[in-house]
Order: sequence, then C-alpha cells, then structure tokens
Amino acid sequence: MAWRHRLIGLLASGVLLASGASTATHAQTPLSTTPWSAAEKDALRSLSINSLPPLPAAPSNKFADDPSAARLGQRLFFDTRLSADGQVSCATCHLSDAAFTDGRKLGRGVGTADRNTMTLLGTAYSPWQFWDGRKDSLWSQALAPTESAVEHGSARSEIIGVVTADPDYKSAYETVFGPLPDLSDRARFPAFAGPVEDPAARAAWDDMSTADRDTMNGVFANIGKAIAAYERRLVPGPSRFDRYVDAVLADDNSAAAIFSDQEAAGLRLFIDRDRGRCVRCHNGPLFSNFTFHNTGVPPQAAKSADRGRSDGALLAQTDPFNCLGAFSDADAKECGELKFAKTTGSDLIGAMKTPTLRSVSKTGPYMHAGQFATLEQVLDHYNRAPDSPIGTTKLRRLNLRPTDLAALKSFLLTLDSPPDLDRADLTPPN
Ligand code: HEC
Ligand code: HEC
Repeated sequence: MAWRHRLIGLLASGVLLASGASTATHAQTPLSTTPWSAAEKDALRSLSINSLPPLPAAPSNKFADDPSAARLGQRLFFDTRLSADGQVSCATCHLSDAAFTDGRKLGRGVGTADRNTMTLLGTAYSPWQFWDGRKDSLWSQALAPTESAVEHGSARSEIIGVVTADPDYKSAYETVFGPLPDLSDRARFPAFAGPVEDPAARAAWDDMSTADRDTMNGVFANIGKAIAAYERRLVPGPSRFDRYVDAVLADDNSAAAIFSDQEAAGLRLFIDRDRGRCVRCHNGPLFSNFTFHNTGVPPQAAKSADRGRSDGALLAQTDPFNCLGAFSDADAKECGELKFAKTTGSDLIGAMKTPTLRSVSKTGPYMHAGQFATLEQVLDHYNRAPDSPIGTTKLRRLNLRPTDLAALKSFLLTLDSPPDLDRADLTPPN
C-alpha cells in the first residue's frame, strides 16, 4: 500500500513541480481573481477527497476488513474497563466530535502523555503510526496505549482478563479469532502481568515461561487487530474544499459561491511549491505524505527536544508486534515498508510524521506537543522558519505578508471533513 501511496505522491509532486513555473506570471495580478491554470487544476484534483484510493491492504492483520472484528473493536475502543482506574478508553482522548482529538496540549489519561493526541481520521492510509512512526500497523499501535503508564495504565493480563471475563466479549472474540486459550491457571497466567512500568506487573511477566507469554501475546495481538478493524473505518468525508474543487473542475459558475476570494488565494499559496511550500509535505487527498520531517518546532517547556523519527524508526524494527514478528499475518515479502525503512541519518533527528490537515480547525493545539495554540501561531512559525532545537529544520523562510497568512488560515478552515460514517458508528455500541 505504501508503495501505491508513494506513487500517488510522486505523481502529485510531478504535477506540482509543473505548476511552480506558472506562479511568477501571476505575481502581479490579484491572486483571487486569476483563473486556475491547468497545472493548478491538476494539483487541486490531487488533493480532492475524490482522489482517495480504496483502503490499503493490511497484510499483517487478516481481520482488518472483517465486520465482526470491527464491531468488537468498536466496543473495545469505547470501553473504560480497559484501564487502571476504570475511567479511560481510547475515546477519552480520541473524541469523534473533535476529529478524534481532545483539544488538549498533551493527551491526558490516568496521567499526562508527553505528546499531543493525533487525529485518527484517515490514519489507516499511513504506513507508520505515532508522531515518530514507532509502530508499523494500526493493530500494533492499538496495543500501546493500554499499557502506557500515562494513558490506560493497564497491563496485558488485565486487558485480556476483561475480554475473557465478559461473556459478550468472549463470544464475539471467538467468532472472529477462534477459541480463547485456557488462561485460568493463575500460577502460570498471573492476573496482573505485562512488560509495563509497574514493577510488580513486570516481575510477574518476567517470571512467566516464554510459551505462556506467547499465548497471552497472541490474544493481546488479536485485541489490537479488532480495534484496528474499527479504526480503519474512520475515514474523512468531503469538506467545503472538496466541493469547491468539484466546481472548479466542472467549470461551472458555482465555484465562486463556495469559496471566498480570500480562501481561493490561500489555496493558491498552499499549492505553490515556492511561495507557500505547504504541498511539498501536505499532499494527496489526506494532505499528508505520511513521512517524517524536522520542521523546527520549539521543544516542550521544561523538556529536551523530542528526537522523533530517529528513535521511532529503531523502535519499529524491534517491536515484537511488527509486520515481521510472530503475531503478524503477513509474509515477510509483504513487509517491505518495515524492512527497507531508513533507520539512521541526520534528517531523522527531530523529524515527526506530517499530520493530515483535514479537519485541522478541530485538531489544535497543534504540533507534536501542542506547542502552538492557534493556526496563526503555526503560520507565523512557517513564515519565520526558525532554527530547530534539535537536528536541522527542513523549512525555509517564506516572507509572506500578513494578508497571505490570513488567506492561508481561511483556506485551512475549509478543510473540515466529518467522518464518512453513520453516527451509530461513532458512539459506544449498545
Ligand atoms: C491519554 C490519551 C490517549 C488515550 C487514552 C489513547 N490515545 Fe491514541 N494517541 C494519544 C497521543 C498523545 C498520541 C500521540 C503519541 C505519540 O506520538 O507518542 C496518540 C496516537 C494515536 C494513534 C496514531 C495516529 C497517527 O496518525 O499516527 C492512533 C492510531 C491512536 N492513538 C489510537 C488509539 C487507540 C486505539 C487507543 C485505545 C486503545 C488510544 N489511542 C488511546 C493519546 C491517547
Ligand atoms: C517539510 C515538510 C512540511 C512543510 C513544507 C509544511 N509542513 Fe506542516 N507539518 C509538517 C510536519 C512534520 C508537522 C508536524 C511537526 C511537529 O509536530 O513537530 C506539520 C504540522 C502542521 C500543522 C499542525 C497540524 C496538527 O494537527 O497539529 C499545520 C496546521 C500545518 N503543518 C500546516 C502547514 C502549512 C499551512 C504549510 C505551508 C505554509 C505547511 N504546513 C508546510 C510538515 C510540513
């Protein structure tokens, strides 16, 4: 899938390179009233939600498109029993009304996370999960928050215990994955065990035999696969921007009624590879190339700068739940993305995954640690392109005028893209 995505990216960048040449001739005319050139129209088409390909295959999760797995995953996503204090579920931080984010600088579960909560919309298209891409699938990602000491604060055996103790869960699980193993022998399968921060749980986990740990890991992996089957469905629907592109490409006169002159001017800057430069990274129908860049954002207060991808790339390689691991359903040859991933190099230092900009009005505070409260601050950062606190920034100073920045902001606000799902799929199932 990532190969396919990359191909789309290449096509888009070819198109966009072509558009760069035409911008100089527009410089003197008022941006808003200039008609879109053929190359610009190609750029608009490449960003339209209509260009979104079908969901990519998920070879490491053979249940990814199983509706029963998705139903089980939806219940798990909203279930607060999967946490140390019985208060936290995935939906605590990923709220459907806020584009699956939480409006906080840093995620808050049983404790406070050290990064900003990411949207889940369209992330099934991303080969890597998390700001640093330390997970190479949605299902392996879904396991991590449950055992994070600041998110769900639970441990592997407890997560599994919720599923085995609840008759509805047990039967839903067995319908999808086959019989649950017998985990009733508490001497072999302690009630509180997992490779987590809590010393008691960790000691109990270390005392288990490798075979028994693997038995638990298999059930744990399946829980992740069910959650991933649900998350795969969280794809953004059309925004006002997409309706505008439809009108522009149809050459009918409705386009001017859909976008103001200011919004159109902002869009023109956004797709201009020399002036706004945004589309160099925020490209394709999800406004992301899903790769990692250092953009020199300031460090979180009182913390050293985040190393981002340079740590994440290595963590993905050693993750027991990765595409090449024992719990993956993929053939090794289907794991090219992981196998050939770049794991060293100075450009990985401080690099973070390019986030989607769909529904960006709802995903603030912005950046990997919520460093910026507003889009104005984000745009001011891009305009100034300061040195990075760690590694080297990929940004260049833009020298845009205040009116340009205001236009960019008004364009970004046209990207609200509610999930392409029924309301019933966005709430806890009954
Ligand atoms: C305490 C708040 C919190 C909870 C609870 C939580 N998350 Fe997250 N989520 C975050 C934060 C913060 C990040 C970014 C963390 C990082 O990059 O290190 C994130 C990232 C993600 C991503 C990566 C998205 C991307 O584009 O890379 C996915 C997917 C995700 N969470 C799904 C889940 C699931 C599934 C659950 C429940 C099992 C869950 N989250 C529970 C806060 C939370
Ligand atoms: C070199 C690649 C690159 C370019 C060029 C780029 N971005 Fe980004 N963008 C990123 C990355 C990477 C992040 C996350 C950075 C971080 O958190 O450390 C980001 C984050 C953002 C965010 C925050 C989204 C959120 O939900 O937190 C916004 C908004 C944004 N970019 C808009 C823009 C605009 C507008 C432009 C053009 C003026 C632009 N970007 C140019 C790569 C890029």
